Amino acid sequence: MSNESGAATGAGRDLLERLDRIRSEGVAALEEAGDEEQLEEARVEYLGRSGELATITAGIGDLPPEDRPVVGRRANRVKTRLQEAHESRERELEREARKREAESRDLTLPGRAEWRGGTHPVTQVIDEICDIFSEIGFSRVRGPEAETEWYNFTALNIPLDHPAADMHDTFYLDEGVLLRTHTSPVQARIMEEHEPPIRIVVPGLCYRRDAFDPSHAPAFEQIEGLAVDEGVDFVEFRSAIDFFVHRFFGEDTRTRFRPSYFPFTEPSAEVDVSCPMCDGAGCSTCKNSGWIEIMGAGMVDPAVFEAVGYDPERYTGYAFGMGPARIAMIRHRIPDMRLLYRGDVRFLEQFVR
Ligand code: DAH
Repeated sequence: MSNESGAATGAGRDLLERLDRIRSEGVAALEEAGDEEQLEEARVEYLGRSGELATITAGIGDLPPEDRPVVGRRANRVKTRLQEAHESRERELEREARKREAESRDLTLPGRAEWRGGTHPVTQVIDEICDIFSEIGFSRVRGPEAETEWYNFTALNIPLDHPAADMHDTFYLDEGVLLRTHTSPVQARIMEEHEPPIRIVVPGLCYRRDAFDPSHAPAFEQIEGLAVDEGVDFVEFRSAIDFFVHRFFGEDTRTRFRPSYFPFTEPSAEVDVSCPMCDGAGCSTCKNSGWIEIMGAGMVDPAVFEAVGYDPERYTGYAFGMGPARIAMIRHRIPDMRLLYRGDVRFLEQFVR
């Protein structure tokens, strides 16, 4: 059999002609499809389950037996050819789409930098302060935020009926248990557990029943400092503070100790630095005074040593407490403390380094 159609009867020949027509029309329709939608329409028409090719294939069984193999083979070849045409057009259309997309990209646009997180400006100040003190032998330690009245007040020579205890506007958790109002209780905890010499800095959160305002937050960081040993005197105290101030604010910064009162220190002082913004000339940061208060401090009161079981005849020491949020505000000229606690990325981004 050199000629398949020659072998077919009338009905078979008719089908072979239809199959040839389906092939040429189908291949043309598939190859000329202008987009995916047209390609899909052509596929349904020529290769779909209710298309002419499928109908012919389904009817092969009804043909005279001698026609079945010829028509069957031809139907298969047409189907294969149509599938090839569909596949190659599909690939072509995909290639064209990718090319169009690539061409529509503007490669001259500036890149968008990946967003980077960073350390919070208050944490940056805490780390810097603790690092400076570590250079002169202070270790960084922590204490609990939930504290007892004993450590928060009594051991620090603040009687519970003393106005200082009221002044702190304490959040109570339970009878005698509170959220610490300052980091000073860690002084007593460390002294109870260790013999001198002691040199520690204690960063951490403190809580007071204050509403948020430009210079207050109900939860805020403090850094406590404590140095105790035999023979620690006011000169060592001043030189430690000067060392810190020069390192942190700059060598030309001057310090000023103003007499003050804290129940746990005697004598007590408030430490001012010459305004790092105007160098003491007077500006909005220092409210034209030329000075900025940065900490409370003093020589440890013997009553505190007694409370923790130290011999006040043998040991002396100094302590200080400062607010790193306030210091961050001074350093970065931040006008409102609430900015530091709101978590607004547009604000915080400025301090990523
Ligand atoms: N605890 C004080 C406060 O929260 C700050 C302070 C003042 C701490 C003097 C000290 C100090 O260690 O000596 O206001």
